[in-house]
Amino acid sequence: MTETSAARMHAITPENTQLVGNVLDYARRRMLSTDVPLDKPMPEADLRRLAGSTISAEGLGGARALSVFEHILAPACLTTSHPQYLSFIPAAPTMAAIAFDLVVSASGLYGGSWMEGSGAVYAENEVLAWLASEFGLPAGAGGVFVQGGTIGNLSALVAARDTARRALTEAGKPLPERFVLVCSAEAHSSNKSAAKVMDVDVVLVPPGADGALRGDAVRAALEEHGDAVFAVIATGGSTNFGVVDDIASIAALKDEFDFWLHIDGAYGLTAMLSPLARDRFAGVERADSVIVDPHKWLFAPFDACALIYRDPENGRRAHTQHAEYLDTLTDKPEYNPSDYSIQLTRRPRGLPLWFSLATHGTEAYRDAVTHILDLTQRIAAEIAEREYLTLVRDPQLSVVVFERVGWDRDDYERWSAGLLEDQRAFVVPSSHGGRPNTRFAIINPLTTFEQLTGILDTMA
Ligand SMILES: Cc1ncc(COP(=O)(O)O)c(C=O)c1O
Repeated sequence: MTETSAARMHAITPENTQLVGNVLDYARRRMLSTDVPLDKPMPEADLRRLAGSTISAEGLGGARALSVFEHILAPACLTTSHPQYLSFIPAAPTMAAIAFDLVVSASGLYGGSWMEGSGAVYAENEVLAWLASEFGLPAGAGGVFVQGGTIGNLSALVAARDTARRALTEAGKPLPERFVLVCSAEAHSSNKSAAKVMDVDVVLVPPGADGALRGDAVRAALEEHGDAVFAVIATGGSTNFGVVDDIASIAALKDEFDFWLHIDGAYGLTAMLSPLARDRFAGVERADSVIVDPHKWLFAPFDACALIYRDPENGRRAHTQHAEYLDTLTDKPEYNPSDYSIQLTRRPRGLPLWFSLATHGTEAYRDAVTHILDLTQRIAAEIAEREYLTLVRDPQLSVVVFERVGWDRDDYERWSAGLLEDQRAFVVPSSHGGRPNTRFAIINPLTTFEQLTGILDTMA
């Protein structure tokens, strides 16, 4: 093999120049199209028939590979940022954030260490500091952008347990046989999954009838399990309903008990940006760690979670990896993002949010979040007025859960499949307390009241 042939995938050649142009053209067309389809999943047999085997010894060539993606694979992927994608928690990245995501990929940026990525780390840390101040955390709070809320929660809880272990040891107390994590029975599944990974016990505390966990219920768990409790999780916006736990009453228990308060705000903590919702989050300022996902309501592309520690040193002590070849990085007092979570190599995944924030300013974010909160209240009022619909709970943030009177699970499934088949909307069935329902999770400022009422009309 010649040097030229070994380098043909990397070198700037006419073929590669053409390929880059084609891919950027595709990205530009997709970003600037006013009628991006919702699209839908395709059975594997159909994909096999249409796309066939795409990996071969000789390669398809850039034009053919891109064509397979554009015409066969992409249409078999839902557009999660579509204004009528209203299920789970959607995505709604800004134009600036999407465009800059391309730059992050194009630039060979590494975000794990100050030595290799100081400029990127500086920018990411600016965003984390701004978020921390919005959440009422003290100056000096900081952390790192990780892949998603699941990794953010796990990393925070590992730091919490490490801190508890140190505190007990320093106080000359015995370590518990089993550490205990306390959270609401309605906390996100990722928290229970973190406990499984960490091999700790979970005490699921029942929330009130409104879905919110309260201090008095948490107190009982703290009294029962004492020093074994290494962390209490409060949710700042549950996934199914957007319910915010009574964080203030849980945080107040810190005056009597020694525990790490973690706020899982993956979806909802963004609402603190709006004066319409800020008061609901009283108590967050006492948190030891928080997470919020920019790929949810902070309008960044997949995948990014901002993990913020009140005292980042607790994160660093728990997570810094040590190895001979890493000492040159970790022996220095510089800020190395990889030291604050379960990851080493990292893309500076906070940069798309940084660029969008730097471009538009924080007020644009506040306005967009306020608009969504307002739209949610309007559509909830509309649902409450239609006699064939029942609002399951008054929405606190931007999730509206409702039932169609008289429908069973199969009715919801048929209706939902029809909506997607017609490319009208992606709204899937859900349930609460054993009763089937459906929900709108709204985070996209391009979603309109008329689009939502149009979907309600299809249930009449
Ligand atoms: C409250 C909450 N926590 C954690 C997660 C997990 O986040 P991710 O899917 O980014 O891992 C979610 C996801 O929807 C969530 O809503």
